Amino acid sequence: MNQLYQHNNDLKDIIENVHIEVLKSAVDLDSIDLVLREYLSLEEMREAGSFFTGQNLATKLIKSFNEAITLDSVVLDPTCGAGNLLIECSRMLGVQKNLSSTLQSWGKVLQGYDLHSSFVEATKLRLVIEALNRGVKKDCSVEQALSYFTHIQVKDTLLVCADELKEVTHVVLNPPFSSWASPQVHYWKKGKVNAAGLIMDHYLRNLPKGCLISVILPDVLRSGSRYEKFRQYCSSQYEAQCSIWGRFNKKTDVDVFLLVGKLKSQIDDISIQWQEHENDHNGILSDYFDVSVGPLVAYRDPLIGNEYAYFHSKNTIAWAVLDTAVEKRNFKGRVIQPPCVLVKRTSSPSDKYRATATIIDLQEPIAVENHLMVVKPKSNSLQDCKKLMKILQSKETNEFLNKAIRLRHLTVKVLKDIPYH
Ligand SMILES: C[S@@+](CC[C@H](N)C(=O)[O-])C[C@H]1O[C@@H](n2cnc3c(N)ncnc32)[C@H](O)[C@@H]1O
Repeated sequence: MNQLYQHNNDLKDIIENVHIEVLKSAVDLDSIDLVLREYLSLEEMREAGSFFTGQNLATKLIKSFNEAITLDSVVLDPTCGAGNLLIECSRMLGVQKNLSSTLQSWGKVLQGYDLHSSFVEATKLRLVIEALNRGVKKDCSVEQALSYFTHIQVKDTLLVCADELKEVTHVVLNPPFSSWASPQVHYWKKGKVNAAGLIMDHYLRNLPKGCLISVILPDVLRSGSRYEKFRQYCSSQYEAQCSIWGRFNKKTDVDVFLLVGKLKSQIDDISIQWQEHENDHNGILSDYFDVSVGPLVAYRDPLIGNEYAYFHSKNTIAWAVLDTAVEKRNFKGRVIQPPCVLVKRTSSPSDKYRATATIIDLQEPIAVENHLMVVKPKSNSLQDCKKLMKILQSKETNEFLNKAIRLRHLTVKVLKDIPYH
């Protein structure tokens, strides 16, 4: 991660010699992501979770605060990277005639942490450049300029305690979305969990009541079934509005949403509306169908037991009605009695159809692989399967699924919730 030091040396030169013509590009929130991509592979960026917020998203996030950022605020970015969000926050603050006095006042407002020292240094250097870019007069050395940012530090954000956060009034957060080992405390179960959830949880527990928080989170925390307890905890502590943003940026294929609100001063019944359709009390798919994941795991299940017609995502032709077996295999696990609808789990907001389906109308039980979901009519009627297929193909269902789940796969819960009239 320290490859960014090379870039930092260029930033120091820009400050030392006040290269007016490049000041602006050094604090361009969209180009730092490209700079990082020159030094790091995509794999290294993923591992560090170092995807920096672009200009449009940063503007939306900072403008969303209910109370404006002023020189009396204390604004923290718990995972500040190269400082994009803090730079955008500084744009809410006034400047003075000189660099030193401007940074002295900004240094009292802006706080940040990151694991990597080259990122922390880049944050400070870019804030200095931002001030110069706004026309202040350079009256101090680079070293002195950097020294005003005593609250921007190299630190593991999960080790920051409540005592250090007492003065914080605003939090801006775009955490890493990497997979981290679960701490196995509170509601976190064993296994790997999304780092964004852990960091959010840590700050909800440690920030002062009434603190304003505006955060960018991966869609899995909003729509993934594994994060139900996370959502419940957020709702209990945090009064916030949820809004879908879509893809993080052109080069980063992950969908995000914003949560903007305030840490509750007292516990109440107000909860976050994670899904726009939550108040729709009309019929839903699970009123008429049972939904489950195909039970057969191809790489794991041995070829023993009876022979069955076998369906997996490659031999189920989209939107067809299949009444003969295209493939057979032995299987000892749970088999399904048709008629039923098989829906592909892999699904992206960029697909023409989010829920691609096939009707299976065999007279014998079938084995279904786990990349497919099994939707079985409670009535056992083929007519109901045909009606469902039309609904799955409709514009309304695509729109519903695109709002409900921006992940690259469908869940049992979201299929069950599809409006069905
Ligand atoms: C998604 S980037 C966001 C950076 C910045 N807030 C922005 O929006 O441009 C997340 C940052 O978190 C940092 N990070 C990852 N784990 C961390 C930890 N345990 N403590 C502090 N920072 C961490 C990474 O180095 C990375 O710079």
